[in-house]
Amino acid sequence: MLDIIDLNIEFHDHLVPETVVYDFDLHMEQGEIVGLVGESGSGKSMTALAIAGLLSRRDMQKRGQIIFEGKELLTCPRNELRMIQGNQIAMVFQEPMTSLNPVYKVGWQVEESLRIHHPEMSKEERKEKAIKTLQDVELDEAERVYNSYPHQLSGGMRQRVMIAAAMICEPKLLIADEPTTALDVTIQAQIVKLLKRINKEKKTSILFISHDLSLIRQLCQRVVVMQGGYIVESGSVKQIFETPQQEYTKKLIGAIPKCEKKVVTKKANTQEKTADTQDKTVAGKGGAQYGE
Ligand SMILES: Nc1ncnc2c1ncn2[C@@H]1O[C@H](COP(=O)(O)OP(=O)(O)OP(=O)(O)O)[C@@H](O)[C@H]1O
Ligand SMILES: [Mg+2]
Repeated sequence: MLDIIDLNIEFHDHLVPETVVYDFDLHMEQGEIVGLVGESGSGKSMTALAIAGLLSRRDMQKRGQIIFEGKELLTCPRNELRMIQGNQIAMVFQEPMTSLNPVYKVGWQVEESLRIHHPEMSKEERKEKAIKTLQDVELDEAERVYNSYPHQLSGGMRQRVMIAAAMICEPKLLIADEPTTALDVTIQAQIVKLLKRINKEKKTSILFISHDLSLIRQLCQRVVVMQGGYIVESGSVKQIFETPQQEYTKKLIGAIPKCEKKVVTKKANTQEKTADTQDKTVAGKGGAQYGE
């Protein structure tokens, strides 16, 4: 579904060009959840924005290939890219308050991709689909949420709204860039659980970006570890957590708070015994915090 080959991203908006992502490779199958982890400034968001086609074509140079469903996104015409954005590839950002426009009602904003990609739909059909999608992200009183302004909702509700807006056209790939960082742990757990359910029910592939390894551990099947613009290590969650090869990865794992590590280890043991279907591996059994 997605093949990224030798992606390099270089900024040209300064006096001296600056490369922020080097030789990034990634292959993702439909229905897979891949975690992208690394310290602040390691290039995670730049990679995500490049995949979503949201980086300026003018101020930065991108080399390599991003092939999505057979189409090369870095060189395809803009109108073709627009057909994919929000429709087949959608993105959720860290802070919903900055992505949601405070002066428009939630319903209008959730429907945005429908207006772009399904102009044939009537106003009533759009509303029906938006309400259904808000219910799908487990928002009670979807009608009320639809008619609210963003500031009338809690942080967790706003993040669900952003997920609904991203999911409304049923994209094949959802890129979630630190979608839970601004939320408290209980709400984080709920959002992770929701993403799992979306993946299971709709077969949406998810690229989950976080610097929180324990969240990655709960949600993903594979992990890519980045540092300073480079991939330093990648592999299955089991490989990365149980037999990390690189010092940097070992340090990241070492930095997980002890109580969370217990959950992670317990989970790994349970999975070793039961490692059968993919869904079971993702849902896990010992996840006291994030389990089903
Ligand atoms: N306009 C710009 N010009 C030059 N360099 C930039 C520009 N925007 C971002 N960068 C640099 O790109 C690098 C990668 O940034 P990126 O936002 O991808 O990091 P990140 O891994 O997402 O970090 P975080 O975890 O803090 O979100 C950083 O070193 C940053 O300073
Ligand atoms: Mg980032």
